Parts: sequence; C-alpha cells; structure tokens
Amino acid sequence: MSVAPTCRLCAGPVREWMDLGRQPASNAFPRPDETDAERFFRLAVGICAECTMVQQLEAMPTDHMFRADYPYRSSTSDGLRRHFEAVAGWLRDTELTDRADLVVEIGCNDGAMLGVLGASGVRHLGVDPSAGAARTAVARGAEVRVGFFDEVSAAAIRAERGPAKVVFSANTISHVADIGTVFRGVDRLLTSDGIFVFEDRYVADIVEYAYFDQIYDEHFYLFSVRAVDAMVARFGFELVDVERIPIHGGSLRFTVARPGARPRRASVGRMIDEEAQTAIGEYDTYLRFARQIERVGADLVALLTDLRDAGRRVVGYGATSKSATVTNFCGIGPDLVPFICDTTPEKQGRLSPGMHIPVRPHAAFADPYPDYALLFAWNHAEEIMAKERHFVAQGGRWILYVPHVHIV
Ligand code: TYD
Ligand code: ZN
Repeated sequence: MSVAPTCRLCAGPVREWMDLGRQPASNAFPRPDETDAERFFRLAVGICAECTMVQQLEAMPTDHMFRADYPYRSSTSDGLRRHFEAVAGWLRDTELTDRADLVVEIGCNDGAMLGVLGASGVRHLGVDPSAGAARTAVARGAEVRVGFFDEVSAAAIRAERGPAKVVFSANTISHVADIGTVFRGVDRLLTSDGIFVFEDRYVADIVEYAYFDQIYDEHFYLFSVRAVDAMVARFGFELVDVERIPIHGGSLRFTVARPGARPRRASVGRMIDEEAQTAIGEYDTYLRFARQIERVGADLVALLTDLRDAGRRVVGYGATSKSATVTNFCGIGPDLVPFICDTTPEKQGRLSPGMHIPVRPHAAFADPYPDYALLFAWNHAEEIMAKERHFVAQGGRWILYVPHVHIV
C-alpha cells in the first residue's frame, strides 16, 4: 500500500532511519484553552540513497509552523545577538561596500542582524512571516516585508528595489521542504556577482554529539556539505565556501554564488572528504545514531521518574523548539517536569507544544530554586550556567541529556 518515499531534491529513494513519533509544531505554544486545536504529524527522518540529503518523510504544513504569533526571538540569547552583530559587520565591511548595494535577509526574525545594518545606513530588506517578530525588527531600525520568501515575493522585491548583492539567511532555509521556491527566488534577486549566504545546523555535529533534539518539524533538512553542494548545483548555483560556526551546538555557514562568479575555496572539497571519511552520507551511521537516541530517551525518563519518586523538584530551563522533540518523544509531561522557565514573554503563560508543560517567566526559577534543572537550552549552556551560578552554589544541579544523560 505504501509507496517508497522519494527525495524532495533528486527524487532518489529515501530510507527512513528514525521515527520520533507523533509531534506538534515545535514553536506553537498553545494557551491553556487552545489545546484542542493542536496539530500533530509523524516526525520521521531518512537519508536519500542518491544525494545523501537527510530529510523528513512527512512535512508539518508551513502555515502551522510560521504564524503571525511565532514566538521564537533571536535576541533572547546574548551569544546569538553577538553572533549576528558580527555577521552584520562582516557583510558591511566586505560585501556591502557600495552605497547602492542591497542586502535581503530571509527570515530576519527580530532584526538581530538586519537592525545593525539598518543602523549603519545599508540598503536592506528583511522578509519574515512572523508579524510580531517583524515589529521588533522595525523598532530596531530594519525594514521588513511580512510574508514568505519565494519566487513571487523575490520578483516583487527586485521590481521595487533592484537586485540584491547579498541574500542572507540564518536557520531558515532548511525549514522549507519545497526549497526550490527559495533558490528560484534567490535566482530572481541576486546580482551576477552577488552571494547567497546561509547558516544552518550541521548534521555531522548532530550525529557526533547526539543532538537528536535538533530534529523537529522546522528542521526539514539536516545539511551536510556534500548534500548541499549537490543541491545548490541542481538549482543552478555553486557552493563556493563553507565554514564551521559554533552556533546551536554546531553549524555551517555556506556561501553560494552563480557558477564561475567567485573562486571555490578549498574548504568545500576538504569538508566533503572529511564527511566521506566519517561516513556521514551513509545509512548505517544514522541507524547507530537512532539506537543512541532511544537509549538517551529511556535513560532520561528513568532519571526523571526516580527523582520524582524520591520527592525531588525538577524544572525545565528554556522552552526551546528542541524540547518539543525531547518531551513528546519521551512522554515527559508536567508530572515529571512541573514547569519550564523561559525569558521569552511570547512563550510565558502558555503551554509547551504537545505535552502541555506550563511555561513560566524566568523569575519562577528561583522561587524557590528546584533541586534539578533540566537544561533544554543546552546550546546556551555557558551563558546560562554563568548567569545561574547561585543556583549551583546553593546545591542545585543541572541535568543534561546530550550526548548522554548526565548530571553536572
Ligand atoms: P534556542 O536554543 O535559541 O532555540 P531553539 O528554539 O532553536 O531550540 O532557544 C533558547 C530558548 O531558551 C529561548 O526560548 C530563550 C530561552 N532562554 C532563557 O530562558 N534563558 C536564557 O538565558 C537563554 C540564553 C535562553
Ligand atoms: Zn536525493
């Protein structure tokens, strides 16, 4: 009855290696009276036997993921804010040197990057479907078009403002299952010598450190250099540079240009070779990863159950998208973790997607401190642990679950 799934990029056969079960939209935090309207899908991941792109087998519909009230904000972490300020400085000083140059950012969120360029007087436009985040970006001095980036909006932007020297996107383009719409849009918009720079999580880091909670609805594709190289060529571009960046536990910054427009740096071939050596394009690597994920899930539930039975209080720290995967995959609800504290006002007073753990303001964390804090925002561990020194000083302990369950 079932038809073998095919790759969204090359139509090759996709072999499933993990089913993470029934999952909600990871950034749809329902109000207590809205839980009936929640939408779920089967979160399953596979790898294409032809082009090796790791991808989901069933997509959550885009209109459930990226709504006007999308609550994620880039600027809630100091580390990310500093990172995007550095990106803005780099683009301004190396690429956007002529007053006429235009930069377009796909998924500009609250303007952490674009606000800096706007303040420097650089011609720019952000495109983002989240009206709430866009309001903050505008308040920071960025110009934003509320909506999705595709060939239609790209053509309209070009007609209004001319071509873009740089198209930038961070943690957005892997979210689009129909990714051809993005590349056709970039094709309409980019100057002949322009660059399309995008940052996204690196599948090799996800596998190496067992960051299984990076798999959620929005991360439709998990990028490797080899698979992205083939993907951009399929859409008529060339991958000219790739660089590792220490964001979200391990990311890559890809630089794409029109074929022959820019020299191809040695880093591309070097990383493709490294991936071949570590078997990052092979099915068996992911089967081993899947077994590790199952072990981590079982260990985490066992630990939380023991702590509850021993009368210990555990609070979740950071209502991340990642925590939707962990809590729904493991079946962790308010009986094991009574609430999650988070600094994002848009998430507070709401429930975590699927498992309905209440999200409370950061102040609830110390009122009084729990015995243990389950660190869902492990990618900001350094920043958070430095801020919460007092929690540990008075006897509190952190629970981490990547690459394995442990207490620090
Ligand atoms: P993040 O890990 O950036 O994202 P993702 O949703 O992609 O998994 O999200 C961090 C979350 O943690 C965000 O909701 C803000 C929250 N947070 C805190 O509550 N306190 C903090 O000190 C930091 C850095 C983040
Ligand atoms: Zn493929």
